Amino acid sequence: MPSLRSMIPLSALALASVSSAAVLPDTTADERYLVRRALNTGMGTRYGDDCTEEDCWQGGACSFVDYTLPEGVDGSTCVSEDIWNQGANCGGCISVSYKGKKITVMVTNMTGGDKNHLDMTPDTWSKLTNGMSGGGVDGIEWEFVQCPMPKTAPLQIHMHGGASKYWFAATVENANRRTDAMQVSADQGSTWKKATRTGKYNMFELDGTLDTDSVWVKVTSHVGTDVVVKDVQLSSGKVTKGSDNYA
Ligand SMILES: *[C@@H]1O[C@H](CO)[C@@H](O)[C@H](O)[C@H]1NC(C)=O
Repeated sequence: MPSLRSMIPLSALALASVSSAAVLPDTTADERYLVRRALNTGMGTRYGDDCTEEDCWQGGACSFVDYTLPEGVDGSTCVSEDIWNQGANCGGCISVSYKGKKITVMVTNMTGGDKNHLDMTPDTWSKLTNGMSGGGVDGIEWEFVQCPMPKTAPLQIHMHGGASKYWFAATVENANRRTDAMQVSADQGSTWKKATRTGKYNMFELDGTLDTDSVWVKVTSHVGTDVVVKDVQLSSGKVTKGSDNYA
């Protein structure tokens, strides 16, 4: 007896894959499977009684400083220390829904609780729950997504307060994907040195010192795409914009 699958004409299978691709362009079947598998259900809470969106997390665990959320991102959230991984999810975007309301938020800070817990600013909480006065609910659903910022918005390298050629310490801001790796070149791209997230606060550091006042910085997203930011000034608090964001 032939299997059911062998009885379906090939043309019908081809048609089925074409129509599902049309629903979600730009993703492969493998990516769609991963996206479905990565949907989380957990506790949603509100933190920071009086703070306004950006004030709630400036200088928080993601080391974002004087940074404002990009156009297209509705709010922000802390993720759990269980999935913190030295801040590897910082700047990543999450699509979160509750009772039919769905918004896109950026990871800007860290909280306690289990791995599925999202702890949000009051403004974000209010958007997600349509102004609920209570500060916690069970049963939010969420998944990581690419940040929906405009294609023209580049990522930027933010040197940490106190950074210099003697202490390279940098955070990636405004990236449309999460950042996995950073490399630094003092010779305009001929050779690269790997910087690593040391400590807890989403900061890439380099062993040793540099002998130039500006470098190129290459960052790699969690899906393996690269952006090179040229002429990054190694001075305290300096922000250098790239010309691009992750593909
Ligand atoms: C970050 O999140 C924690 C935990 O919710 C919160 O206590 C803190 O105020 C937040 N902001 C900063 C800047 O750390």
